[in-house]
Amino acid sequence: MTGIVHLGIVAHLRGDPFRSASALEIIEDGALWVDGTGRIVKTGPRAAILAEADAIERVNHGSAWLLPGLVDAHVHFPQFYATASYGRDLLDWLERSIFPAEIALADEVLATEVAERFVARLLAAGTATAMVFGSQFLPANLALFEAAESAGLRLIAGMTMMDRGGPEALLKSPGEAREQCLALLDYCRGRPRLHYAITPRFALSCSEAMLELCGDLLREYPEAYLQTHINESQGELDAVARLFPQEADYLAVYERFGLVTPRTVLAHDIHVSDGQLARMAHAGCAVCHCPSSNFYLGSGLFPLARHLRHRIPVALGTDIGAGTHGSIWREAGESYKVQQLQGLTLDAAQLLYLATLGGAAALRLDHETGNFAPGKSADLFVLDPGASPYLSERLRRCECLEDQLFCLLHLAGEAEVAASWVGGVRACGRV
Ligand code: GUN
Ligand code: ZN
Repeated sequence: MTGIVHLGIVAHLRGDPFRSASALEIIEDGALWVDGTGRIVKTGPRAAILAEADAIERVNHGSAWLLPGLVDAHVHFPQFYATASYGRDLLDWLERSIFPAEIALADEVLATEVAERFVARLLAAGTATAMVFGSQFLPANLALFEAAESAGLRLIAGMTMMDRGGPEALLKSPGEAREQCLALLDYCRGRPRLHYAITPRFALSCSEAMLELCGDLLREYPEAYLQTHINESQGELDAVARLFPQEADYLAVYERFGLVTPRTVLAHDIHVSDGQLARMAHAGCAVCHCPSSNFYLGSGLFPLARHLRHRIPVALGTDIGAGTHGSIWREAGESYKVQQLQGLTLDAAQLLYLATLGGAAALRLDHETGNFAPGKSADLFVLDPGASPYLSERLRRCECLEDQLFCLLHLAGEAEVAASWVGGVRACGRV
């Protein structure tokens, strides 16, 4: 029999902890059995699993935690080296710092190098699945898909589409954009871990013709996703109202072109009315919360409780380059603080859910990843607090494993990620 059994503290969500109090499973002397095709056979106490899988290779991770691969549902590839750039607010930051940085990816050699490092950094942070805003340049996007495929990252990405509101070098006519989207859609076909996302940057950078093209593509290619930004900053909302005076609100702009669907992921959604939330819920779209980015740009506080009340699936995103690091694990900790400021106290199960199974559900990939249910892809990472003397001592003072997990969600980060596997294949590691 081929396969591998990982030994360690196994933790994952069996369901949605916002609906069920017993969704979190933590197995102290745990084992995670992966078959030869990279699928999960089962998890359980190590004695029981080893009795059944006695002839199978095992890897003992000691006192480290085995966790489901993280889901980063919003991150910008061409902003990889533009983190920590100055800007008064979203629109000033885009113009002053981000658009110039994105132009640099017209250079194919540079783009290939950045693509490889970008993918490697996500995997090194424990991310197995990422939804990515690509470059405006076709070769850079091909480099991104190639880098993800060869490194094993599960990737949903698309060309960032703009035909106004930015420097000429980043703009493309709808006709040219269509050709290039088709080439990338074609590239993803037959590659099970690559998915295409139609990616209009936001309402301010797309003409009506461009938004119409996005709607057409979404209808023509049902396998495609759609990702864009919405309701992020007050300045952006004011500009959208000026540019689309006939629409009642921001969401109505996207609705008019058929862009709000069950395969749509809307990033930020901070300044949102209950009316828009009700329409989003009805359409079945998902929302991505990017706490570090929202702090960094001063965009506002994400109203998670209202999204939950409307049953809108919510994922987390690092939103590099407005986010300043690559770790969804750390974003979970940041999301806790954003909700504390609004009177909602999230527990360990809810935070882990947002970073894993909840993110996978928002991306319609929870049949494949997000937890350790039998049959799913073996996407996991090893979080080893042992390398940090402070962390080890802090954890020793916890009363139970759930308290330890809560501590880790606030105190651990990329440095504690010892290794990761996607589809059962080792993707990166330092052990
Ligand atoms: N809205 C439009 N473009 C962007 C971007 O690149 N980053 C963020 N955070 N918001 C945006
Ligand atoms: Zn963004």
